[in-house]
Amino acid sequence: MLNKIIDNYLKENYYPFHMPGHKRSEIFDSNLGYGRDFTEIDGLDNLNDPKEVFVDMERKIAETYDVKDAIISTNGSTSGILASIRAISQNNKNILIQRSSHKAVYNACLINKLKVDYIGVKTNDIGAIVDISFEDLEDKLKNKTYSAVVVTSPSYEGYILDIERIYKICKKYKAKLILDMAHGSHLFLTGAYKNTFDIAITSFHKNLPALTPAAAVLINDEQIVKDLRFAMSIFQTSSPSYLILQSIDYILENIGEMEILNQKLQANLVDLYKIKLKNLSLIDDKNKDRSKILISTKNTNINGKTLANLLKEEKIEIEMAYPSYALLIASLCDRDKGFDLLKNALIKIDKTLEKSAYLFNFTYQSPQKIYQIYEAMDFDSELIKIENSQGRIAGGFTYAYPPGIPILAPGELIDSKVLENINNLQKNNIRLNLVGKSIAVIIDKMNKNC
Ligand SMILES: Cc1ncc(COP(=O)(O)O)c(C=O)c1O
Repeated sequence: MLNKIIDNYLKENYYPFHMPGHKRSEIFDSNLGYGRDFTEIDGLDNLNDPKEVFVDMERKIAETYDVKDAIISTNGSTSGILASIRAISQNNKNILIQRSSHKAVYNACLINKLKVDYIGVKTNDIGAIVDISFEDLEDKLKNKTYSAVVVTSPSYEGYILDIERIYKICKKYKAKLILDMAHGSHLFLTGAYKNTFDIAITSFHKNLPALTPAAAVLINDEQIVKDLRFAMSIFQTSSPSYLILQSIDYILENIGEMEILNQKLQANLVDLYKIKLKNLSLIDDKNKDRSKILISTKNTNINGKTLANLLKEEKIEIEMAYPSYALLIASLCDRDKGFDLLKNALIKIDKTLEKSAYLFNFTYQSPQKIYQIYEAMDFDSELIKIENSQGRIAGGFTYAYPPGIPILAPGELIDSKVLENINNLQKNNIRLNLVGKSIAVIIDKMNKNC
């Protein structure tokens, strides 16, 4: 589709008296792709008002994911999430979101002035999110009307929720289900993909061979399409990257190749999960995507950050380190060489470690909400020492990036459990978005906890 059109266009040798300003000039580094970077010239359609090739590409995405419609995002799942929540839940509506949602979900709630409640999450013994609380979901839906429910599946660590069950519950209470499937674009290849949602947002760049930040919104509820396209045109650039679009096109035109690459990946993963380790452990679970390689350091004498450093000495860069684990992402494009390097490194590092009773107790809390997020952001705030902040109300988000999941949201009471989490993360060298040893708290003229 798009790649072919561009191939043919280039053969015609038109001179570009139009954007982009680099004019596909050969004086620049050809690795950056200047030669194929285009804009909405005649024949190359307009992503924000698709009529030609992007209609075909979006149709192909819809077919691939077995949904009614799809919208391409060249601004990541972030834009797709902002637009989806905007299209369904604007203007002070109630929304029910998974507490461990990505910050894009929280930001959508902030800018749309939404009244937010949380679905509690379940974590495993290393602090990875493995499920939501279904009792909490039903209880909340029974007691309040919500415009939408937002859940994340797979989680960053690869745990997959029972989306069919969640969708049924949402239908029962007439709430739309928005699925943040940013980490699941490849699941249609593994058989773990389910199309039971009203809207899902997925990042091609995370798990498929697309350029950063290629993504799409998948739509089952056709009544939302018009509002969603309008919202996407607000949150999406008016100059989408044609390089990103060509990388999406490549995937769509080569699904067969993706399937073959996936078979190779699965075979490599089978071998990897067989290795014998005495201290570290590779976490495997029937509800977990194996390409998210989650290595527990629990009960060893090192934390996730130290494991990341040791792997770096072996020339391996990982995705994320948390106190009790390190997370590595494998994809269709990994090579045997990479897996050999990883297996050898893990066996070597494991031999240098010892057992230890180190216990890290990290769970995502829902601190007491004093103000809605949008209300809290309207207050003036001040920076105070973290150690003096107990009993104050947060004036901003606190999170580690990655994963970008807030452990404290604006308007929430800073209690001893939140402080324990912050201290624990900092002690384990996990960088939070805080300014040194300070945290922003609101200056509340009404004197409600200030
Ligand atoms: C769960 C989740 N949702 C959404 C996003 C945003 O995705 P993108 O980087 O494609 O904007 C991320 C990014 O890491 C994420 O982890």
